[in-house]
Amino acid sequence: MAEPVVPPTAGLALRLSDLRPWGKGDLASALAQWLGVPAVQLTCSGTSALMVALRTLRALAPQRDEVIVPAYTCPLVALAVAQCGLQLRLCDLRADALDMDGDVLRMLCGRKTLAVIPTHLCGRVADVAQALECAHEVGAYVIEDAAQALGARLERAAGGSGGSEPVGWQGDIGFYSLAVGKGLSTFEGGVLLARDPHLRQALAQTGEQVPSSVWWELRRSLELIGYAALYRPCGLGPAYKAPLQKSLARGDWVEAAGDDFDDFIPQHPLGRWRQRVGGWALQRLPEFLRLTEEQAARRCARLAAIPGIEVVRDAVAGRARGTWPVILLRLPTAAARNAFIGRHWGDGSGLSLPFVHVLPDYGRYDHALGTARGDKVDVARDWAERLVAISNSPWLDEPGFEKLLRQLAAL
Ligand SMILES: Cc1ncc(COP(=O)(O)O)c(C=O)c1O
Repeated sequence: MAEPVVPPTAGLALRLSDLRPWGKGDLASALAQWLGVPAVQLTCSGTSALMVALRTLRALAPQRDEVIVPAYTCPLVALAVAQCGLQLRLCDLRADALDMDGDVLRMLCGRKTLAVIPTHLCGRVADVAQALECAHEVGAYVIEDAAQALGARLERAAGGSGGSEPVGWQGDIGFYSLAVGKGLSTFEGGVLLARDPHLRQALAQTGEQVPSSVWWELRRSLELIGYAALYRPCGLGPAYKAPLQKSLARGDWVEAAGDDFDDFIPQHPLGRWRQRVGGWALQRLPEFLRLTEEQAARRCARLAAIPGIEVVRDAVAGRARGTWPVILLRLPTAAARNAFIGRHWGDGSGLSLPFVHVLPDYGRYDHALGTARGDKVDVARDWAERLVAISNSPWLDEPGFEKLLRQLAAL
């Protein structure tokens, strides 16, 4: 019998009963309640949420047009910034944490800076306080990119005595993604949040200008049905592993990692039925996140014991409670990483790369980078060349995980 296929990230599988179109309560209020915030705003994708945020801020500060992002992030972020008519700036990373380097960030921030985007990559919590300090000092805003971190939280004070708040709530604006493979998915979807009621209102006004599209909603609804049917170990063979192997056979790592994005970013509201599906699935999300957190804790301990392998942790030590869609490893050299992923990526055993390159190294996104192509990205490039992600899906069972451990130990 063929081995079951492990998805690259731990997404919550949908049940047939999630597709029922009735039920009380809407996704926005259920999400706000679960997160412990007054309100959230839904969008058709994380990228769309970012665009709504950028347009809103631009209207508030029209003289500012630069947006600072980590040099290693989702290319969609670069495309969104460019599509809003803004200039990207790339911030190099710290060598000791997957987060922006504070000194570089301080140098990049200036009177042209509109926003700084600290990013909770792969559920690992970034240092938003640092970004706030640098941005607010020059009158810029902070947008937390929590696309990959819905459910992650930060203690208000060390020791946990002051309670916690969700990531995305510390910055001026935050957003999550509900795309395929995320903890909670409506196939594509996004969530915006902001602490300041005036900013929330301004975001809502920008969001209302997004025109509805029957065509996009129909297409996304059908895709969501397909996702509900195929996002399970047997369905992932044809839906994920076969296309992955094809991309790898062509040597196309960018396509294999799903980093091959189009310039066109659809913008439309998130339809009511898909919101309802998300609302039903959300009821199971807290328990799913608890299970994946426990699994990650056990597995991180085993992985950290392999000499030369570093398990990537939250950038804010002690106060963060990140989520665990994957377990990120930094291998000792790019050669070791490439040998490992090159040999086993196509097995369907749960390996992937968060992103293949730092933004300037794709080439295909140069038009969106503009002058940011010249920004220094050496440390980020080193991260990009040595990272590998192990899926934290519960479908990666113990024998499968033990096999990966042996493969890593043999490097
Ligand atoms: C770090 C980061 N930012 C933004 C996005 C965009 O989110 P979406 O795919 O929902 O448009 C992603 C997508 O995964 C992401 O990983």
